[in-house]
Amino acid sequence: MTNSSLREVHRPVLLEETVGMLKVIPGGVYMDGTFGLGGHTKEILKRSAPDGRVVAFDWDEEAIRLGLENIGISRDRLQVVRRNFREIDVGLKEVGIAVVDGILIDIGLSSLQLEAEGRGFSFSRDEPLDMRMDRRRPITAAQVVADSTEEELADIFYYYGDEKQARRIAAAIVKERKQRTIEMTGQLAQIVGTAVPKRFHPNRIHVATKVFQALRIAVNEELANLGEILEKAPNHLKLSGRICIISFHSLEDRIVKRKLAGNPRLSVLTKKPITPDDSEIMSNPRARSSRLRVAERAA
Ligand SMILES: C[S@@+](CC[C@H](N)C(=O)[O-])C[C@H]1O[C@@H](n2cnc3c(N)ncnc32)[C@H](O)[C@@H]1O
Repeated sequence: MTNSSLREVHRPVLLEETVGMLKVIPGGVYMDGTFGLGGHTKEILKRSAPDGRVVAFDWDEEAIRLGLENIGISRDRLQVVRRNFREIDVGLKEVGIAVVDGILIDIGLSSLQLEAEGRGFSFSRDEPLDMRMDRRRPITAAQVVADSTEEELADIFYYYGDEKQARRIAAAIVKERKQRTIEMTGQLAQIVGTAVPKRFHPNRIHVATKVFQALRIAVNEELANLGEILEKAPNHLKLSGRICIISFHSLEDRIVKRKLAGNPRLSVLTKKPITPDDSEIMSNPRARSSRLRVAERAA
């Protein structure tokens, strides 16, 4: 896929709702913790013109490169930090900012990452089992598959993927890896397909979908990252500043809900999460499971 067609397939999720809830004002300073292709950042820059600023974090070098291409002319009001968003303290300090008017986190994977060759996120191509969003990180999915115990693998698949066949799949992986190293996405997809009896194969998704999702969450420590940003973000929000979190997975949404409600400095503005309407889901299937929760710094 070319860069321009990659950008075409990527549409920012819940754009109007998120940027509206952030209450973007001219001259405001905002943190986008998940720059990606810059879809949300671009809109924040537009609404905060002429002198508003965005500090955008992303740990994926390729995402940053394409995101910057997508931003265009407002580039001078944008500072990009290649860091994990959980490093908000040091990242903001580096660009000389202590507090911001709003923080946005749109977690997970962009369509760009899912579709890009050589990243190992998808079983639709046979390639090395990598799955690191930040390729500076030391542990790949192949290493998790090679080094985890059978119980650890089963837990990853069950808890992060909600995979009911987790034990069977973990046992098949351990058996296979005694014979040969599991290095490729195709190899893993095939092991899962054979381990799960045909009667348990799902109708609408590939049998390995949940295993791949679970491994990606484990490799990138996605739940720990989310927990940490939710703890730290209120320290960097101005009074009345808002934090908007878009998540795609019930596990993530539970963490967001609990952490926002449990912070005495925050007032939660979304009793129920905001979800996309039918027309957004029709035009952007990635939006289907998205949920937006918002809180305001009240104390
Ligand atoms: C769903 S995309 C964001 C899309 C973006 N809102 C847009 O409209 O273009 C998520 C991005 O966040 C990045 N990301 C995920 N977890 C991260 C983390 N812990 N720290 C920094 N970046 C992260 C990914 O690399 C990816 O580029």
